[in-house]
Amino acid sequence: MSGYDQTYAAWQADPQTFWAQAAEAIDWNKPPTRVFDPDMGEFGRWFSDAECNTCWNCVDRHVHNGRGQQTALIWDSPVTNSVARYSYSQLLDEVCALAAVMQDHGVTKGDRVIIYMPMVAEAVFAMLACARLGAVHSVVFGGFAAHELSARIDDAAPKLVISASCGLETRRIVQYKPLLDQAIASATHKPETCIILQRNAHPCDLIAGRDIDMGAAVARAKQDNRRPECTSVAATDPLYILYTSGTTGQPKGVVRDNGGHMVALHWSMQNHYGTRPGDVFWAASDVGWVVGHSYICYGPLLQGCATVVFEGKPVGCPDAGVFWRVIQDHKVSALFAAPTAFRAIRKEDPNGDLLGKYDLSHFRSLFLAGERSDPDTVKWAQSKLNRPVIDHWWQTETGWAISGNPVGLGAFPIRLGSPGKPMPGYDVQVLDDAGQPVAPGTLGNIALKLPLPPSCFPTLWNAAERYLSAYFTEFPGYYATSDAGMIDEDGYVFIMARTDDIINVAGHRLSTGAMEEVITSHPDIAECAVVGVADALKGQMPVGFYVVNSGVHRESGDLEGELVSLVRQEIGPVAAFKTAIEVERLPKTRSGKVLRGTVQKIADGQEWKMPAAIDDPQILEEIAQALRKRGYARQLA
Ligand code: COA
Ligand code: AMP
Repeated sequence: MSGYDQTYAAWQADPQTFWAQAAEAIDWNKPPTRVFDPDMGEFGRWFSDAECNTCWNCVDRHVHNGRGQQTALIWDSPVTNSVARYSYSQLLDEVCALAAVMQDHGVTKGDRVIIYMPMVAEAVFAMLACARLGAVHSVVFGGFAAHELSARIDDAAPKLVISASCGLETRRIVQYKPLLDQAIASATHKPETCIILQRNAHPCDLIAGRDIDMGAAVARAKQDNRRPECTSVAATDPLYILYTSGTTGQPKGVVRDNGGHMVALHWSMQNHYGTRPGDVFWAASDVGWVVGHSYICYGPLLQGCATVVFEGKPVGCPDAGVFWRVIQDHKVSALFAAPTAFRAIRKEDPNGDLLGKYDLSHFRSLFLAGERSDPDTVKWAQSKLNRPVIDHWWQTETGWAISGNPVGLGAFPIRLGSPGKPMPGYDVQVLDDAGQPVAPGTLGNIALKLPLPPSCFPTLWNAAERYLSAYFTEFPGYYATSDAGMIDEDGYVFIMARTDDIINVAGHRLSTGAMEEVITSHPDIAECAVVGVADALKGQMPVGFYVVNSGVHRESGDLEGELVSLVRQEIGPVAAFKTAIEVERLPKTRSGKVLRGTVQKIADGQEWKMPAAIDDPQILEEIAQALRKRGYARQLA
């Protein structure tokens, strides 16, 4: 029997008591007397008069409670052939030493620190060291290029940057330091200090007067037994800023607070993921994404679990059995991954033969999120693993699941294609374009009735106006998720597509608008459109269409190469932009809006209707022809 209905009903009946009880799992320096303050901030704030420290709750308190010898963090790096384990006491030593080094360089409460690191244990130490000092971290994903890093440096204005000499991808070494130097050179804001982790695979030069060798500085702090106290912060103070793709090239700085974030994540670990203190939890993501923030760093440590920091890929490290090897070696009980990872594994090992080589007896459940879970992949994983495969849906803005299936409360029956039912805290509604609720089973805009639960973003960094206009004006009284879908008669949520220009490539959230801005910056390009085209492995891949300036005559292969390089150089390899197709003109409405949705349907070989407002229907046939030449739109051929 699932306890879901009862728990959701208890939240509906009395949200304040529900969250007050959940808050008892947290150590507060000053406990909350107010659970929700509707008058604070734009739409109310959680635990508005409380004080706390997130690092204390993730690390110190477990040591104080006698669990210092228990494993806290396991770093498993097949790309460097290394494994390291840290107990909670050792994690505390590392975090204290790094916090002391940061303090020596002037970091105090409220200062911003950018973390630009590969998947190393030090990235988590750095996040926790910031939390300890009350500083606000902003982790930038390593697959972003210098230009993107530079934009984040200018927006967050960090006092300090923590980075590494390099990261390792399966086929290449990514030198982080030149990207960092380039980003700082082009940024207007200049961070005073950079703390650099030197890695054996490719050590880098340090700039005298600015760069600090992390290893040496941390060793000195340990020798001197430097242990900065946890700084008490307001529950509503920011813990971090995480930039995410919006509809323009300028990323949105999602702000997360300390108190509500801890309460929601702790609740989710116990009730959604069904983990207990001492379990090993593995989120096979990257600290640069929200999944990495919530479930590599904060969630598992808040609950006293061990977390796995994995530096590798699901395939090619050395084979498609690496996930099973890690589950076996570290006795992982719950794995959280993007469906793409499982599509990649299935492609290499369709019969799951490699699974048989490993002992998965500790493994209880697989959780999927980050993109739509296609039923085929879920069925494959279910049949091979013989364990629950739970799809759940959330966004950077929320920090934890909006809908899911709470294993800790007893899972309800899984419905393929659905990421479960709304979690307590979320009143999920499907609205038509006029903002009216639609009948069950009807497609519409998915919106969350205000107020949002703990952990959801209270604002966007430096962009209070954009916070309102991007999320709260379309449907007054609701948060617009920009996801379209439906809720069926039994309350299961289905997420079908984004309603904006965001695409999802291998579980990575990317803005096609940002790619278009880069492409049109090329001197030969008059205009362009980028759409997300269905891809069997990565879910979607960006495909660009461009029109050259009149008088320009270029080999289209050459120009395509330049545009692909430009996007890689400006946004980064993570954009996975590999295809740019020259066309005579773009299909538009009579008011000049490019018909991206129709182009995408044509490329995917889906049925499409001639848009009533189209300027010239012939252009769509030209686009279809161009796509067919490149192997797309096959069903229409
Ligand atoms: N630093 C630098 N470069 C990075 C990077 C990082 N942290 N992460 C990715 N990249 C680069 C890759 O090397 C690749 O570059 P390339 O064009 O030179 O090959 C590019 O960005 C795209 O990376 P990725 O999407 O990871 O593709 P891939 O082809 O290397 O691997 C998969 C394919 C399916 C194995 C991989 O996409 C995967 O593991 N997906 C799971 C996604 C995931 O965990 N998402 C997190 C959200 S929950
Ligand atoms: P991000 O903010 O990077 O976590 O991306 C959030 C977006 O990813 C959502 O708005 C959805 O479009 C998509 N997404 C995340 N999880 C799911 C899921 N389980 N099913 C369908 N789409 C998802």
